[in-house]
Amino acid sequence: MRTSNISGFYKLASAERLKILQAFAGLNEDELAVLSMKGALDELADRMIENVVGTMPLPLGIATHFMINEMDYLIPMAIEEPSVVAAASNAAKMARARGGFYTSSTEPVMIGQIQVTKLSDPSAAKFTVLEHKTAILELANRCDPVLVKLGGGAIDVDVRVIATDSGPQVILHLLVNVKDAMGANAVNTMAESVAPFVEELTGGTVNLRIISNLATHRLARAKAVFARDEIGGEAVVEGILSAYHFAKADPFRCATHNKGIMNGIDAVVIATGNDFRAVEAGAHAYASITGRYLPLTCWEKSSEGDLVGTIELPLALGLVGGATTTHPTAKVNVKLLGVRTANELAEIIAAVGLAQNFAALRALATEGIQRGHMSLHARNVAVAAGATGDRIERVAEILVKERKVRLDRAKEVLETLLQ
Ligand code: MEV
Repeated sequence: MRTSNISGFYKLASAERLKILQAFAGLNEDELAVLSMKGALDELADRMIENVVGTMPLPLGIATHFMINEMDYLIPMAIEEPSVVAAASNAAKMARARGGFYTSSTEPVMIGQIQVTKLSDPSAAKFTVLEHKTAILELANRCDPVLVKLGGGAIDVDVRVIATDSGPQVILHLLVNVKDAMGANAVNTMAESVAPFVEELTGGTVNLRIISNLATHRLARAKAVFARDEIGGEAVVEGILSAYHFAKADPFRCATHNKGIMNGIDAVVIATGNDFRAVEAGAHAYASITGRYLPLTCWEKSSEGDLVGTIELPLALGLVGGATTTHPTAKVNVKLLGVRTANELAEIIAAVGLAQNFAALRALATEGIQRGHMSLHARNVAVAAGATGDRIERVAEILVKERKVRLDRAKEVLETLLQ
């Protein structure tokens, strides 16, 4: 019987799990072989997550031309979408005329939230917590002597009383400098360890103790000037500014504007083995921090008529702990980037986000996005239609020329080539 109610799936070897999938979905040997490819991960995959049957590879491309803080970088990007790597490289090339990208970042400080409930006197509880800040920090720092030795650790406590549907709650923020870690483990451990003391101090009940992905104290920034004549002249500058103003005024457009930024950011986050869900959550929450959903970038015109772009967003990235230190491809990618700190990585990624946004807005404000997209997309459609070898390129060329990049047309073209 076809059932997902399989007890002990986690105890099986991956080959046995694959047999179950074969029976469940009628997979053939070729399909099983595709699933079970381990690639660079090899046996590691089985230790990284549960119930492993294989891996899911993504293309890894290298963005070229990036000059950041007057240093050259080759940027690894893992992404399934055509045109993203080419667009980032192209934008980085155009930025070079005015020196490329300049970046900065704040200290890598993450927030651990402790939710205190069932308090009759929440404001007084807030003050009691603040009176005992030093003791709370000492307790937190006992959890992670290594981090403290490296110059990090819990550095401050912030407390708010918030109104909720179940009445007022006291929310304690434990601010932790996590140095080169993403920080979730360190922060969650600290938040859990100080919670009993917070209950003792306030007389309330602690419910959640967890990191916040809205990492407002851990910001990365990048800036670039795009010379007017390098990018196509005055009309292009005005077109990009108008597109930016559209995104600023309209959340429907803004979601797509920010999605384009995240195309670049996620690709490098994934290539370096970092937590792209945390980065996504933080980015969009930060974009809404004023109460309105706004672009993560800002575009202006300089007094010389050049286009000036800036980006600021929270980037919780790690170089130690997590997949960055275990995933073989991520390790090579970090070496390729040559970064020594998580902040350096965050700044590079912010620059890629800015480049990606520039490239998208320039394409949209001029010839449209489809022309650049189409040739790679057409190759994918040709493959989907069953083309192999040289025929992939031949089918793709015809589809692009006809401006009919569709599966039905690809099948027809392939048939005529096969006759
Ligand atoms: C596509 O992945 C991203 C864009 O839609 C971004 C944008 O519209 O700014 C091109």
